[in-house]
Amino acid sequence: MVKKNIDWGNLGFTYSKTDSRYVSLWKEGVWDEGKMVEDANVTLNESAGVLQYAQTCFEGLKVYTTADDRVVAFRPDLNAKRMSDTAKRLLMPAFDEGRFIDALNRLVRANLAYVPPYGSGATLYIRPFLYGSGAVIGVAPSPEYTFRMFCTPVGPYFKGGVKPLKLVVSPYDRAAPQGTGHIKAGLNYAMSLYAGNEANMNGFAENVFLDAATRTKVEETGGANFIFITEDNKVVTPKSPTILPSITRRSLMYVAKHYLNLETEERDIPLSEVSSFKEGGLCGTAAVVSPIGSITTGDGVIEMASGMESMGPITKKLYDTLTGIQMGRIEAPEGWIHEIA
Ligand code: PLP
Ligand code: COI
Repeated sequence: MVKKNIDWGNLGFTYSKTDSRYVSLWKEGVWDEGKMVEDANVTLNESAGVLQYAQTCFEGLKVYTTADDRVVAFRPDLNAKRMSDTAKRLLMPAFDEGRFIDALNRLVRANLAYVPPYGSGATLYIRPFLYGSGAVIGVAPSPEYTFRMFCTPVGPYFKGGVKPLKLVVSPYDRAAPQGTGHIKAGLNYAMSLYAGNEANMNGFAENVFLDAATRTKVEETGGANFIFITEDNKVVTPKSPTILPSITRRSLMYVAKHYLNLETEERDIPLSEVSSFKEGGLCGTAAVVSPIGSITTGDGVIEMASGMESMGPITKKLYDTLTGIQMGRIEAPEGWIHEIA
């Protein structure tokens, strides 16, 4: 396969257009057969549900070239399932999970020249999305829907790669107690922009959102879940019905237990406990595992014991094991690696 002439090592987490994308339309109760198209632009009626009432959701997953030159996706069945769950909560027709995998195969095979080579530090980011494309004017679900999936080669989400990040506890809430925090609705991201911008303007990489009901417990950031390492080397992660069930986090907890023999706990994490943790990280498809350096709270700055220079040792082991599995250097649990080419 002749690859595109791309400076793989210097890619950021930005969009660039690739050759083709998948599209399927839902009308009168059925999805059409779907097809690959070249046009990256979308034409919509001015009153489309997505434009008026933000009826839209998305997913994010990555495709890798392995050490032995296979092109694989990491646990795409879980993205397909999460998108179905999200669709239901937004009163949208779910896209069949088997067809989601078929669309992924077709998309990646059509854009193989954009799959970053093994060892380049870049990956192919896949963005499936589903939106109300029919016209509505009263507040109501759209009468028609579009599912699309495109891909774009990306580098690290945070500038500086895996340098520890400075975070700040947000004065804003991300998700209401009985709201939509657990699904990947576009609206969750639209309302996080203001808070994210404020954090960035104040010199922080990301926000730490607290639970909206009590504002005492750590939830997640705008685009990643948390893991922390306790003084006695347990891997802990927040349990909350208002955070996105991260596939990376679920995978890391499995890796911690079954590959690294570490104890794991998914439980409430009071903000007041964070200063006792040795290490912490953000985890997600885009963030992979990004170490936390410090968290600024209303009462001062919590400096993680692992410092501002490098990832803590346990976070590093988790990172190395997970990325080793994704890149085919370490044997994966059954069903985690989906081979495409
Ligand atoms: N939390 C939020 C709000 C996200 O947007 C993401 C990204 O998808 C995650 C967590 C991480 O989820 P995953 O590991 O499935 O990518
Ligand atoms: C991802 O990690 O795939 C995300 O969707 C997070 C962010 C880019 C919104």
